[in-house]
Amino acid sequence: MNLILMGLPGAGKGTQAERIVATYGIPQISTGDMFREAIKNETALGLKAKSFMDAGDLVPDEVTNGIVKERLAQKDTEKGFLLDGFPRTLDQAEALEAMLKDLNKKIDAVIEIQVAEKVLIERLAGRYMCRNCGATYHKIFNPTKVEDTCDRCGGHEFYQREDDKPETVKNRLAVNMEASAPILDFYKQAGLLHSLDGDRDIDEVFSDVEKIIG
Ligand code: AP5
Ligand code: MG
Ligand code: ZN
Repeated sequence: MNLILMGLPGAGKGTQAERIVATYGIPQISTGDMFREAIKNETALGLKAKSFMDAGDLVPDEVTNGIVKERLAQKDTEKGFLLDGFPRTLDQAEALEAMLKDLNKKIDAVIEIQVAEKVLIERLAGRYMCRNCGATYHKIFNPTKVEDTCDRCGGHEFYQREDDKPETVKNRLAVNMEASAPILDFYKQAGLLHSLDGDRDIDEVFSDVEKIIG
């Protein structure tokens, strides 16, 4: 099962991806997570991506396409994969088609999580992540069960994402809204697009995701 998760910043791609991975055992391929990891490790890729990410702009297509191509060639994608946050431009969607053709694979479904801008701003402002395992929480909507303790790994250190600052969020939302419209159209034409209302409880959203996958 080869899936794409789409949605604006804060829509809940990563949150739903955690559940899809746990339920279906396919790897999550998040370009955002890969860039953040590269920045943390101060690699050449991280160096290239950092200024774009800090400004809330998109990393250039050739850089992004390159890392996805490498990732999709790895063995763990054989049973399927979940793309989170890729493709984000028409160029990336076309590059993906070519990669999949080479690998003799195809996309089975594109799931778009729809959430209004006002809600997205609240979600990004209150988001925090586990420093140890990367699990995502929200101060109000999705706090850890035990205060200051990660549900998943028991870690006690949390951080906020650099690009969740209000000034950056504004640009991120604008950039992503503009970029996503033509790709949504592209997948709609291909008969692959499933859009769902993401402004509901995390479990309710996931139950819709399961219906689509089923
Ligand atoms: P990326 O890391 O992909 O960020 P994004 O697209 O901005 O999306 P987010 O990760 O912020 O949101 P999400 O949808 O995963 O929401 P989450 O589940 O965390 O990309 C970062 C940057 O990398 C880009 O800006 C760009 O620079 C670069 N990049 C990445 N991919 C690229 C590409 N393909 N091309 C070019 N550049 C690229 O949830 C958000 C919050 O809401 C959390 O606190 C969560 O707990 C809460 N929440 C989730 N679901 C619900 C719910 N149903 N109800 C209430 N709260 C909820
Ligand atoms: Mg994410
Ligand atoms: Zn953790």
